[in-house]
Amino acid sequence: MNTKKSISKNKTEAVRKETNHTTKTSTISSESDALPNKTTPAFLMTIYDEHKYIGVLMKVLAEQLENISSKGTADFDLMFDIMHYMREFPDRFHHPREEVLFLLLKEKDSSLTPTIKNLLNHHEHFGDRGDLILDALNDIIHKFTISKKDALQDLFEDYISVLETHIELEETEILCRAIDLLDESDWQQLKHRTTVVEDPIFGHQVHQRYRRIYDHLAQRIEKAADDFTLMEFVGLGAFFESIEPLSLGISEISDIINSHSKQVYRTNANCYKSLRVSPPNQRTDYIAKPVNCFLDCYDVYVDGLFNIGKVLRKTREKVAEPYSTGFNLLKELEKQ
Ligand SMILES: [Fe+2]
Ligand SMILES: [Fe+2]
Repeated sequence: MNTKKSISKNKTEAVRKETNHTTKTSTISSESDALPNKTTPAFLMTIYDEHKYIGVLMKVLAEQLENISSKGTADFDLMFDIMHYMREFPDRFHHPREEVLFLLLKEKDSSLTPTIKNLLNHHEHFGDRGDLILDALNDIIHKFTISKKDALQDLFEDYISVLETHIELEETEILCRAIDLLDESDWQQLKHRTTVVEDPIFGHQVHQRYRRIYDHLAQRIEKAADDFTLMEFVGLGAFFESIEPLSLGISEISDIINSHSKQVYRTNANCYKSLRVSPPNQRTDYIAKPVNCFLDCYDVYVDGLFNIGKVLRKTREKVAEPYSTGFNLLKELEKQ
């Protein structure tokens, strides 16, 4: 473990040196150095969005580090969950997707090679450093080894600092260049060569494994909103809370539509097959059979709509709940 750490420390210094070197000496300039906008290709938008999510989580980690300094303790479980997410999502999906983009960009413009090499080193560094941090957190949580707190702070400070530099470098020197260098067929190629996996915290549905992070972020939003007006508090907090039931409802509805459309397809296919396999005795069968088929499908449609209605009613109650709680709170405050 100590050897692993010292190797990692040397690597960190190398990573830092290279980062500074590339940033200072780079002559790359881009015409598209503006923030992402409506015309930004979907492939890049996903990367920009994921950078935002990572940035939010790094802020939470920085706050927890501050708590260690000022209060001598922090929410180590929350920190563990965030690092678990970093290893499971950005390290497994975000960075590898970027690496496919880097490869294509290097072919288009070889002057990007040093910067890309630097970024690839960072990707490797995040994996090594992430594992060390998870080990240290695990010891603190399960073995109560408080003495590891100083080492943990150093590891985290380094991790956050390299990650921030990394994202800045990607956005200012690589992603903007990608807009200039790639055309529609390149974007299509990237789309086919990579997989986009829905984010387990910021996607449509919050994964149970990361529920603690979600709750923490929801609380932060409410706290921040509290600094504005009371009306904003009611609206923003309620909106954030309603995201999950709403997305759950939408997911249930899409499951119902999916299963019912399969049934409708099967019913139609059987009807068509029966007309082909056994030709009707009477010409009116050509009308009667499709009509029967339509009636069968009608039952399926009605059944599906009934189920969707049930989900919508359930979802509406859940979505409305935080709003009504907020309004009740506002009324109570007005009375005082
Ligand atoms: Fe990256
Ligand atoms: Fe990135």
